Amino acid sequence: MKKVKVGIAGLGRLGKVHAHNIAYKIPNAELTAACSIVSDELEYAKKELGVTDVYTDYKEMLAMADIDAVVIVTTSGEHCWQIAAALDAGKHVFSDKPLGVTVEECKLAEGAVERHPESVFFLGFMRRFDPSYAYAKKKIEDGVIGTPYMVKAAGIDPEALVEGAIKFAATSGGIFIDMAIHDIDLMRWFLGSDPVEVHAMGATFKHPEFAEVGDDETGVAMYKCGNGALGIVHVGRTAAHGYHVETEIIGTEGSLRISPVPEKNLCMVYDKNGVVTECVGGFPERFAEAYQLEMQEFIDCVESGKKPEITVYDGTKSTQIGFATTEAWKTGNIVKIEY
Ligand SMILES: NC(=O)c1ccc[n+]([C@@H]2O[C@H](COP(=O)([O-])OP(=O)(O)OC[C@H]3O[C@@H](n4cnc5c(N)ncnc54)[C@H](O)[C@@H]3O)[C@@H](O)[C@H]2O)c1
Repeated sequence: MKKVKVGIAGLGRLGKVHAHNIAYKIPNAELTAACSIVSDELEYAKKELGVTDVYTDYKEMLAMADIDAVVIVTTSGEHCWQIAAALDAGKHVFSDKPLGVTVEECKLAEGAVERHPESVFFLGFMRRFDPSYAYAKKKIEDGVIGTPYMVKAAGIDPEALVEGAIKFAATSGGIFIDMAIHDIDLMRWFLGSDPVEVHAMGATFKHPEFAEVGDDETGVAMYKCGNGALGIVHVGRTAAHGYHVETEIIGTEGSLRISPVPEKNLCMVYDKNGVVTECVGGFPERFAEAYQLEMQEFIDCVESGKKPEITVYDGTKSTQIGFATTEAWKTGNIVKIEY
């Protein structure tokens, strides 16, 4: 069977996860090229992934490499032009979230997707592929909780990894674009409605470095959707116990909760500290299965011509909502969201 040849752009914290999956875990894909502006990462690609066709210039990879598809895991502000360049070069494209850090950038990506209906464009909102989130969605579709009218979500990065988050903060687009965007996507998915207004606040208590680059360490946002449903999103960078991602969906007949305690596994440790449930340490561990499943789905879409469920317009909307949330946080105003 002919494998889909993939070039990856970005081999940082998440790029390495995707690269490893493509190289070793997706049977119908082959990692044939890699691009990074960090030379150590290209050495990693050669040694750990066996990829010898490496580039520091993204456009050069598009022009020279023997690839059918590009996987973009670069800094968020690079995504949209790289998506457009790859589609215009005749490649299928997977881009990690966020689609872009401004709405103008997202429109550029939309234009490129519309110019190339023959190519697959896949946006990596991987939580939709996590087995627990997918199960919750199915329960909602089966009517188990009646009509869902509220989503309460928390996404708090571990204090243990805060140095990486500080380094990344200045180019991340801000806490609501960078972190809340996952919860925003899930809120839209679970409630089946888009938010039309938002109120948001932030605080920094432990790491002033976030505030120094105009970001905050913790953010809280409240949304009202077009159908009247509500959303409450809490994002942060300093969970002491590990990586805390928790979502509750409340409906007229019941509710669903995903990861109220973000357990590492089913083992409880009984020792001098008492009875301890250890927690997952970071996103690569918590969402390992989701990253693999979304990449498998992308490659299967390329092979079969099937259209991905998540569209470029979902990407633009989530960035618009993230942007409106950022505006609400910065101004203290309730912001109306128009699409
Ligand atoms: N889906 C998720 O759960 C999740 C988790 C983490 C990060 N992300 C997203 O993935 C992206 C990367 O995040 P990260 O944490 O791996 O960042 P990182 O800073 O660790 O890595 C960024 C990578 O981008 C490369 N890069 C930057 N500009 C480039 C360019 N012009 N050409 C080629 N390579 C370039 C760098 O060399 C580096 O390899 C971000 O958009 C982030 O929002 C998503």
